Amino acid sequence: MTIRSIQQQIQATPVSEGAGVSVHRTLGTPALKHLDPFLMLDHFGSDNPDEYIAGFPDHPHRGFVTLTYMLDGHMEHRDSMGNRGDLRAGGAQWMKAASGVIHSEMPRQSNGLMRGFQLWINLPATEKLSDPAYQEFAPEAIPEVAGEGLRVRVLAGEYAGQRGVIDDPHTDLLYLDVELAANARFSVPLASAYAAFTYVYAGGARIDQNALPQHSLSVLRQGDGVAINAGPDGARLILVAGRPIGEPIVQYGPFVMNTREEIEQAMRDYRDGKLVRVKAAMTAVG
Ligand code: FE2
Repeated sequence: MTIRSIQQQIQATPVSEGAGVSVHRTLGTPALKHLDPFLMLDHFGSDNPDEYIAGFPDHPHRGFVTLTYMLDGHMEHRDSMGNRGDLRAGGAQWMKAASGVIHSEMPRQSNGLMRGFQLWINLPATEKLSDPAYQEFAPEAIPEVAGEGLRVRVLAGEYAGQRGVIDDPHTDLLYLDVELAANARFSVPLASAYAAFTYVYAGGARIDQNALPQHSLSVLRQGDGVAINAGPDGARLILVAGRPIGEPIVQYGPFVMNTREEIEQAMRDYRDGKLVRVKAAMTAVG
């Protein structure tokens, strides 16, 4: 087995998003614009309400998927088509924006810790203008595997014979939330040509002798597996992998298409109130 080594490491940059929410961004910054099929990773985490209370009021998306994973706290999703979703600690929401969604993501708490991730996953050209869809996963619906010094929540893909609940059919997504005790070791096979990264959100870890500091994203070289060792304080991290789409990416804010013309169309549609074509179907799991 060829163990993947670190190709690039990006320390998170603080960014203000939505109506003034403070997020740690790695993927989707000038240091790493995209990692096909992944477009952006935001880690939000604060126990200061001033840094999250304003939330993400109505905003559009077109051409890709957003995957939100809540670690702590409570958010409410509402969209212009009347869907309402609850995101609770440990739960997740897979939203295929595709042809267009306008929604808000607002905190349902006024104090305490709010912590989680939002990952943007690209869609192939054939799907960019397809109908939107949501899937919401309750915390209990996400399988967990406990082992020696580790606990793994399998959001998508497979680990130790457990299959995750989220299916991202165009990228064959793997998304694991891994908690490691002090000096514990974690490994998992990965498809060799898939893009893969890990992001440490608490504690510290290493791959070989290379440190994975807190709030850093490490892009992994090709190889058919990854092995991560926790440091003396243990580690909490996500490991994400997926099959690249291999198409041109043209992005303007919340619109991600294949050509400039398609971006201009998205901007016109938004301006003319035509971004939302179809009401999204919503499925709740668990
Ligand atoms: Fe959004």
